[in-house]
Amino acid sequence: MKKQVNIAVLGLGVVANGLVKNLITAEEKIKQQTGLSISIAKVLVRSKEKKQGLAQKYQLTLTTEVEDILADPTIDIVVELIGGIDSAKEWITLALQRKKHVVTANKDLIARFGNELTAIAKANDVSLFYEASVAGGIPILRNLNTSFMTDEITAIQGILNGTSNFMLTQMNEAGLTYGEALESAQVSGFAESDPTNDVDGWDAAYKLIILVRLALNQDLALDDLSVKGIGEITQVDNFYAHDFGYQIKPLAHAQLIDEGIYAAVEPVLIPQTHPFAFVKNEMNGVFIESNVIGNSLLYGPGAGASPTAESVLADILTIAKNMNNKQQAFQMSSSNLPSGKLHKEGLTNYYFLLTDCAIDLTVFLEKQHIRPISLKQQENKEAAFISNKLTVEQKHDLIDKLQEISHVKQILSVWED
Ligand code: HSE
Repeated sequence: MKKQVNIAVLGLGVVANGLVKNLITAEEKIKQQTGLSISIAKVLVRSKEKKQGLAQKYQLTLTTEVEDILADPTIDIVVELIGGIDSAKEWITLALQRKKHVVTANKDLIARFGNELTAIAKANDVSLFYEASVAGGIPILRNLNTSFMTDEITAIQGILNGTSNFMLTQMNEAGLTYGEALESAQVSGFAESDPTNDVDGWDAAYKLIILVRLALNQDLALDDLSVKGIGEITQVDNFYAHDFGYQIKPLAHAQLIDEGIYAAVEPVLIPQTHPFAFVKNEMNGVFIESNVIGNSLLYGPGAGASPTAESVLADILTIAKNMNNKQQAFQMSSSNLPSGKLHKEGLTNYYFLLTDCAIDLTVFLEKQHIRPISLKQQENKEAAFISNKLTVEQKHDLIDKLQEISHVKQILSVWED
């Protein structure tokens, strides 16, 4: 029976730091409950000098050569925390081929190459786990793999980007500007080093692709998704959303429709009473609609060193226990899923913000057979309204008509309870 499990960590950034600390804190508990001793044998860094302080504090052995890790037969699990695609993909592939289990938090990589890497893991009878890649500290992938295994999931919705949610919350509740809110998210360690993917919706899109694989058993490419970030949301939108009884939230959602799937990432207006209205700041929420269990909501921190590191540690423990019990390696998802058959957006209510609207909007909309759910028109020619449910064609038709009488500044989907 193997009692000692050696891991190597690629990278010593925010999450890796969290992992080192969480592992030290949990060391005794892990030993008591599992009989296993998990040690960080080596850490790959770019510069030993820069990380010397940390290495001394936590007694870490640093290396700048990945081969020191890949060629070391005593290393059982490689934990990839460098992010990005090129080196991460190459090193994970090599680790799997050399029969080392791999744990990663890299959503970009898993969304794009998860199937390919899972196939390599399977072929080498080792596991590839990536719980921390989606929704930080929420154990969502593990739950999809176990509790929902025999259920039929029909839709999944989530607030999956902590940075965007933090920014919208701060703009809405603390009156911060977009720039101030972004800076605050960066200082708090929620945002990626280049926060473009966070605010433009790509980070949530990667996470949604991974969720769709596990929840809806279909494989989507990035191009299949409709992706819109939070960059154009202003305080004016927040004001009207609030006034109409809604909140703007960065939502990622996918649902099965007529044998197909519709998946999107977009800021949407949700009612103040919707459970997602209570998911604030860097918190994430995942709502699952399924035929057997019904509706489930998982909630927790979606970003930050310690929660994300705890998900990485949970993967390490699962693999270590599995190794110790001499069980066959297993994967988080199948590697040969069908490509998702895409369907377009269904009927939705829309929020419109107009400027330079000099005519009576109520009368105008009546002529277009639109029955607004809420409408506000100011004397300064600014107006906002929420339409009744429209098809995509009706929406485009309405935009054309509105452009003849005003400047259309914003259009967002609106969700009802
Ligand atoms: N930048 C990511 C977020 C970190 O804000 O959600 C967690 O994946």
